[in-house]
Amino acid sequence: MTRTPVDLTAPESARVMGRVLAPLVAQGAIVRRPRVTAWAERHQTDRAARAVLTGLRERHGGAPLVLRFGTRRLVVVTEPDDVRRLLEESPEPFTPATKEKRGALAHFQPEGVLISSTAERWHRRPFNETALQMGQAVHDEGAAFVDAVQRGVVELTRQLDSTGRLDAESFADVWWGIVLEVVLGPKAGRDRDLVELLGALRRDANWSWLRPRRPALREDLEARIGSYLLAPEPGSLAAAAHDCGPATAVGQVPHWLFAFDAASAVTLRALAVVASRPEVRERLLAEAGPAGPSPWQTAGRGPALLPYARACVLESVRLWPTTFAVLRDSTGPTPWGERALPTGTGFVIVSSFFHRDRERLEHADAFVPEAWLDGRNDADWGLVPFSGGPVACPGRNVVLLVTSHLLARLAARDLRVERGRYLARDPLPATVDHLGLRFRIAGSA
Ligand code: HEM
Repeated sequence: MTRTPVDLTAPESARVMGRVLAPLVAQGAIVRRPRVTAWAERHQTDRAARAVLTGLRERHGGAPLVLRFGTRRLVVVTEPDDVRRLLEESPEPFTPATKEKRGALAHFQPEGVLISSTAERWHRRPFNETALQMGQAVHDEGAAFVDAVQRGVVELTRQLDSTGRLDAESFADVWWGIVLEVVLGPKAGRDRDLVELLGALRRDANWSWLRPRRPALREDLEARIGSYLLAPEPGSLAAAAHDCGPATAVGQVPHWLFAFDAASAVTLRALAVVASRPEVRERLLAEAGPAGPSPWQTAGRGPALLPYARACVLESVRLWPTTFAVLRDSTGPTPWGERALPTGTGFVIVSSFFHRDRERLEHADAFVPEAWLDGRNDADWGLVPFSGGPVACPGRNVVLLVTSHLLARLAARDLRVERGRYLARDPLPATVDHLGLRFRIAGSA
């Protein structure tokens, strides 16, 4: 059923702006601002946002909600069939290259596929799909990726053994080593200048159009990435990218590096659940099998798939989505119910609202990896941690491979997490600040 969009009253618009959209923007869409994410957890901002949208959905019978922000008209959808329409009809007439995203991502990836015109997308999207081997559960270079994960685990283990502790900051340092190796090859593994450079540009990107561009910095970033792409090391995504077209690669790789950052948040939150729930940890250990010389390999076919560990990662990103909102702009006048929305209307899918919708999902606030294994979640257009349709994340399988192996290996350590009692039981908190997570080895003071 197509519902006609309704104009919100001024107080309703203020509630959506103040309690739903502003907290998401304030946390940093491109790189998180630690003080704000800590504040968001204290105030459980996603719970408040869900209450506002649930109330408005009820009052307006599920009609898309239209609000004005200056000259910008935004439509917030609240029903999965509207999500489906927006995602299936992308990139035309609903382009992912929205005004806000172009303003933000152009700081460090002006040629990224996500903000490309439909004409440019025509060759950039297949490039991404092919280099990342989107359709394959395990990338051809998967064994090398898992080797990089293993080196990271050795470092984390060393740290845990010497201090008994692990926090988000020390995890991030090792994580970047893994990411650089997977994306650019082992020689890049220690290139923290590149991470710094990307970080500076991402902080600018948080301010979108409000912050002036720094072309010199961006050229530095491109030159650094370009140096690894010139003679790519085998077993890296750079090598796969080189094979698919070196000229396109340099414009796409910044997004890959940036997108891997989200995966560290997802892994940390999944690890926090594992550290709080012995039954989840036991299943992970059972799946990984007894420790041996290469317990992770299936004979001659690269790394194991680890379906349960993958499902735990997916459950983490469902419960605490890292893409706060999936955005679209209309590229022409759009009929919707009995209205026609003008060209340039912005559409917003608030991920955490759909992912935790108690009216649709029995397991809305529970940790249920099984729902990813039995197909329940795949059938639901409201569950879009990696988006859906022709613009869906092409890195999904690569990132699930890397994170599932990391999670399964870290589960071998018996960890505890501070404030773990909130994660030990359902319902789970609506907002969890991954930057505030602190782990210790069980039994240590
Ligand atoms: C946990 C980690 C990740 C999550 C949750 C995630 C999720 C998403 C989402 C929601 C989109 C937006 C699609 C849309 O607007 O409809 C997207 C796009 C994209 N992602 Fe990911 N992603 C992750 C990691 C990665 C990684 C590691 C890579 C590459 C190695 C990657 C490559 C891409 C690309 C290239 C796009 C743009 C697709 C297009 O415009 O056609 N992602 N991702």
